[in-house]
Amino acid sequence: MCGIVGYIGHRDAYPIVLNGLKRLEYRGYDSAGIALYDGNELKFSKTKGKVADLEKKLESQISTNGTIGIGHTRWATHGVPNDVNSHPHFSNSGDLVIIHNGIIENYEPLRQELINRGYTFQSDTDTEVLVNLIEDVKKKEKVKLGKAVQIALNQTIGAYAIAVFDKNKPNEIVVARLGSPLAIGVGENEFFIASDASPFLEFTKDAIYLEDGEMAVVRTHKKIKIRKIHDDSLVDPYVQELQMNLEQIEKGGYDHFMLKEIYEQPEAIKDTFRGRMLVDQGLIKMAGIDDHIDKFINARRILIVACGTSWHAGLVAEYIFEELARVPVEVEYASEFRYRNPVIDKDDVLIAISQSGETADTMAAIKLAKEKGAFVFGVCNVVGSSISRETHAGAYTHAGPEIGVASTKAFTTQITVLTLIALQLAKKKGKISTSDFHNYLRELEAIPQKVEKALESNDIIEQIADVYKNAKNCLYLGRGFNFPVALEGALKLKEISYIHAEGYPAAEMKHGPIALIDEEMPVVVIATLKGHYEKVVSNIQEIKSRSGKIIGIVTEGDVDVKNLADHVIEVPDTIEFLTPLLTTIPLQLLSYHIAVLLDKNVDQPRNLAKSVTVE
Ligand code: AGP
Ligand code: GLU
Repeated sequence: MCGIVGYIGHRDAYPIVLNGLKRLEYRGYDSAGIALYDGNELKFSKTKGKVADLEKKLESQISTNGTIGIGHTRWATHGVPNDVNSHPHFSNSGDLVIIHNGIIENYEPLRQELINRGYTFQSDTDTEVLVNLIEDVKKKEKVKLGKAVQIALNQTIGAYAIAVFDKNKPNEIVVARLGSPLAIGVGENEFFIASDASPFLEFTKDAIYLEDGEMAVVRTHKKIKIRKIHDDSLVDPYVQELQMNLEQIEKGGYDHFMLKEIYEQPEAIKDTFRGRMLVDQGLIKMAGIDDHIDKFINARRILIVACGTSWHAGLVAEYIFEELARVPVEVEYASEFRYRNPVIDKDDVLIAISQSGETADTMAAIKLAKEKGAFVFGVCNVVGSSISRETHAGAYTHAGPEIGVASTKAFTTQITVLTLIALQLAKKKGKISTSDFHNYLRELEAIPQKVEKALESNDIIEQIADVYKNAKNCLYLGRGFNFPVALEGALKLKEISYIHAEGYPAAEMKHGPIALIDEEMPVVVIATLKGHYEKVVSNIQEIKSRSGKIIGIVTEGDVDVKNLADHVIEVPDTIEFLTPLLTTIPLQLLSYHIAVLLDKNVDQPRNLAKSVTVE
């Protein structure tokens, strides 16, 4: 995620682009930059930090006049947040300038090819490769910018929303999108470009949303032309009149960031395995792992440290690593691990999981493990965060900024990264066959669509939430891979609705918790067909016989649980170790709807912070 903004018309571009970036900062905020064209020169300023930092730096650096401008607020994927990696990026000649939201998966081979042709690179980003590829095509094919962008994009694999400007052709901006959003505001002889409509809503409510695989050349005094990138066919522009207000646009039309982020999970999971899972070739490519695979292969055991939801992702990983790679795994709360003088040695591998990459307890656990000689690997969502810089190596979840305090897409993308690592390790250790490995990759590739399917139960879940919104307590039960999901579901309910909830292994009921069961106690039971189904059905019967109210999370087409439970929510079938990626979806939605019905502050629950940087 990141924010892109552009303007071409009769107004001063600077205030439009700068304020537009401020509106888009929720989409990414580790660096920012602006390029302006004033009719003579192409000026720019860019800096690590917030848009406010850019404003301070820019106004002392360059004159801000000019009626053409592009700007970017970054959420880094390739290259840590610093001034050089900030956008905009320039081609070697200095003529072309680009801003980009997304990931060019095949940027490395493209970069090598360009280096072989004499190009040099200032940054570590995939974006700088793209702008030089466009320049290379433009020079070789002797075509206009629009055509050069089209030819170049057809050589890329990945996701993009881009705006490209050529200072030698200063009356147009070329835009294109695939996988990342791009809106065009249509004014009176002026055009606005942005990741969403919030930067231009005050100027025009007329907007064109490019579809995936479309591009456009935006020129003043000319009607906009939209083409399909792959076959150059023309597309009739569809100009719609926007009805949303600013706040609704920032939340993508959802009522809360949490709900938006729940619905972003199919894309977030796709972005997380994009470029790392080459299904057709039956390969996983993850530099952070592949460069240190011997550490993992020779590891005496794998320790996992984290807090909260990230700790739950670690528990899921324990089941997956042990099932697939047959390596002993121990999962610890970072806050306990750091103080209990644990036995750690140099043959241990420690995986630290943290969405924010700033959690103090997790950072302390990492330092302790490093002091004792362990190899430390980080799984973070924020590129360049403290934890990502402290670990020996790592792999990022590409979930994009997670604004809601209750973690959702971070959880499923953490499990995605950890699953890729476990599969790669299992393959390298010869613990799974090539055909099984291939099948697992195909099944993981199908997960985003299955998450989409699971999200379709939203309305049913909202109705169930209405029935149980006044419960004082709630139990969540699961077995095997879904035991950690039960814990995560209980945490979600606690932290946003303030209802007490506990997660338990389903078989533990008879060791005490069943004493809690009565007609006032809703019990959420994860009972997918794959995963000790018959045993879970017996647990449900035990609860039913004590008048407990049962909400079953079941595999599509389930019959047995449907006959027993008070409510069932269906999720698609998948292989057992991938079921957590699906069973967590209804639990996220259930907690969300109960909290909304109780009129709680869903995105900023009381007493909580998005990143716990205190001990
Ligand atoms: C989960 O919904 C909470 N926001 C919290 O438990 C969170 O997972 C925990 O604080 C860990 O944060 P981190 O992943 O940024 O380290
Ligand atoms: N992949 C590009 C980078 O890392 C763009 C990231 C974004 O969408 O902000 O700079």
